Parts: sequence; structure tokens; C-alpha cells
Amino acid sequence: MLIPVILSGGVGSRLWPLSREHYPKQLLALVGNNTLLQDTILRLAGLGQPLRPLMVCNESHRFLVAEQLRVLNLQAENILLEPSGRNTAPAVAVAALHAVQQHPDALLLVLPADHIITATEQFCSTLKQAIPLAEANYLVTFGIVPNCAETGYGYIKAAQTIPQTQGYKVEKFVEKPNLATAQHYVESGEYYWNSGMFLFKASRYLEELEKFAPAIFAACQQALSHATQDQDFLRLDANAFNNCPSDSIDYAVMEHTEAAAVLPLDAGWSDVGAWTALWAVSAQDKQGNVLLGDVIAENVKNSYLRAEYRLLAAIGLDNHIVIETADAVLVAHKDQVQDVKKIVTHLKNTA
Ligand code: GDD
Ligand code: MG
Repeated sequence: MLIPVILSGGVGSRLWPLSREHYPKQLLALVGNNTLLQDTILRLAGLGQPLRPLMVCNESHRFLVAEQLRVLNLQAENILLEPSGRNTAPAVAVAALHAVQQHPDALLLVLPADHIITATEQFCSTLKQAIPLAEANYLVTFGIVPNCAETGYGYIKAAQTIPQTQGYKVEKFVEKPNLATAQHYVESGEYYWNSGMFLFKASRYLEELEKFAPAIFAACQQALSHATQDQDFLRLDANAFNNCPSDSIDYAVMEHTEAAAVLPLDAGWSDVGAWTALWAVSAQDKQGNVLLGDVIAENVKNSYLRAEYRLLAAIGLDNHIVIETADAVLVAHKDQVQDVKKIVTHLKNTA
């Protein structure tokens, strides 16, 4: 029994002003007509079996998430509501605890709701290769060949191959190394980026979580055992969940476990961490521009211009991002788009 677990708890602040706390990037149609969350579920059709995902999201996004499933007639196994974000280790834990109640052998396919994957067939075929590894009790990660020393990712060092599979044992998993370490890893050619997707038995994840982060395990057990089903939603017990330590699956489990495996993934993966990433995966015209909405561009190159409400006219831009929304406009050089986060922090502090 394969159960996708869709993590939809992030705020996507680097895609401000389109992505907002109450309307984060996974709930937006950033490429094409579907939202990233919808695409995350739709692309699993390539696995060739009907799957009912377990959604895990914040209480405040529940109607948006439910509506995005409803309009496409997608059935969820359940929608688990977090009273507050405690990061991914607890989010996956409550999904795993829920899954084993009904299906003790469940395999969980953990998928962030905010990634773009352009080669769906390749993606699904790699997922199929991961199933026997997960059944053999590995915690399977999907490794991306790195092209720069990005410090916001986990790094995976592959060891020997696992016989009769396409996978490798993981020798070392390092979450968010500093720049010098990341550079060293990339130059060595021995490391993959962690894509942030995982496949494992629910029971195996819980075993490792209990070993390495017993407080998270205990709090999540409490939160689920006192949860209340409210129509389509399973509301976790607020008191127990809010008291759960906040940590990511990467720090809490993947850096410590000896049962990790990695499968190389080459499927046009992007976690759309910044506007430049969205520019890179979108269809560009001859000048290297992505122009969306009511946009007039004169002598503009290599830029991403997006108008939501008004006419946007630009002259003589090279390597720029311009995002027009109802109440805010962003103009940024492509080299500095990571600093959008600083603007969001500034706005929060002055609100
Ligand atoms: N439900 C829920 N609750 N989802 C959450 C929560 C939470 O508290 N926190 C984060 N998420 C979701 C995010 O929306 C995102 O889809 C996913 O879980 C991963 O969280 P991020 O906060 O985006 O993690 P990251 O980007 O810093 O790092 C992870 O992803 C990288 C690749 O994109 C790690 O797995 C890295 O190792 C990896 O390289
Ligand atoms: Mg991320």
C-alpha cells in the first residue's frame, strides 16, 4: 500500500509578493493552470495505480487545500491539520502514525507540495525503482546531481551500490552545510543534493524517529491519539502538537540513520526556491524572457516579468525580475533575488 504524504506547510517567502503567508507558493499556479500542490498529486498518475494522498497542512490553509483537491476531483485519504508548524519531522510522523493504524505495511512517499518536476515519466520510473528499496527497510532519498554550492540543501554521499537495485547506500547525510563545506562537496563529485522527497515504510520511519528524536515521536503520538475528525479534516491535538519540538526530518532522522539509501533522480527537479528558479523552468522567448500577464517589454533580455492586475511596461532591462500584484511590486536584479527574504522579514518586523 503506497500512500503519498503531501507536505504543504511552508510559506515560500522568497517568492514574495506572489507568495504570502495566507497564500503560499504551493497553492499558486506558478507554471501552467494547476497549482504546485495539484501538480504534485497529478504527476503520480504515472505510477499507474490509484493513490489517495495524506495531506499535512496548517489549520489556516485547510479550505484552500480542500478546494484545490475538490476542483480536480482528487480524493485524499485524509487532511491532517497542524495547529502550528513544527517542521517536517513531526509532519511526517503524524502521517506515518495515521497510516500504520489502517495499513501496518504502508509505504509513505513523502512529497513537498512546492516542487516543480518537468520530466514526469522519468520521475515516476525512478519512484518505481525506489519501492523495492523501501520494502527492504531502507529510508530512500532521491539525489540530484548538484550544479552549485547551494547551502540551503542537504548533501548526500553515496557509498556502495545495493545489489539488484539502482540504489546506493548512504555514507553520509549533511543538512545545510556551510558554504566552504558545500563547495568542497560539489568539487569532490561524490555528493548529491537531497531533493527533499522520501520513500520508506511508515513503520521504519517511526522506528528511526523514536530512536533519534523520542520527544518528537511521543508528542506526535499524543497529538494523534487526541485528534478529532471534523468532516474532511483530522485536527491534531493542539496542546500536544504545539509542545512538540520543532525539527526537520533531515536533521532529526536522516543525518543519524544508518538505513538511508539514495537513488539518483534526473527529472528536471526544482524546488523553486527563488524567482530565478521559476524563470529557469518556465518557457522563455528568444530574448530569454518570461512575460506573463499584460506585459509590454522593449529591449528586455533574460528577465521574468509578471503582471497580475495592471499593465506592466519595461524598457531596457537585462536579468531582472519584476512582479506586479494588487498591493505590492517587486523589482530585483536576478543576482540578488535571495534577498527577497530580507524584505519579507522587514515587512514582518514593521507590521
Ligand atoms: N505540513 C508541513 N508542516 N509542511 C512543512 C512544514 C511544517 O511544519 N515545514 C515545512 N514543510 C514543507 C514545506 O512546505 C516544503 O514543501 C517541505 O516541507 C520542505 O520544507 P522546507 O522548509 O522547504 O525545507 P528546506 O527547503 O529548507 O530543505 C529541505 O528540502 C531541500 C530541497 O528542497 C531538506 O529536505 C533539504 O535536505 C533539501 O535539500
Ligand atoms: Mg524548501
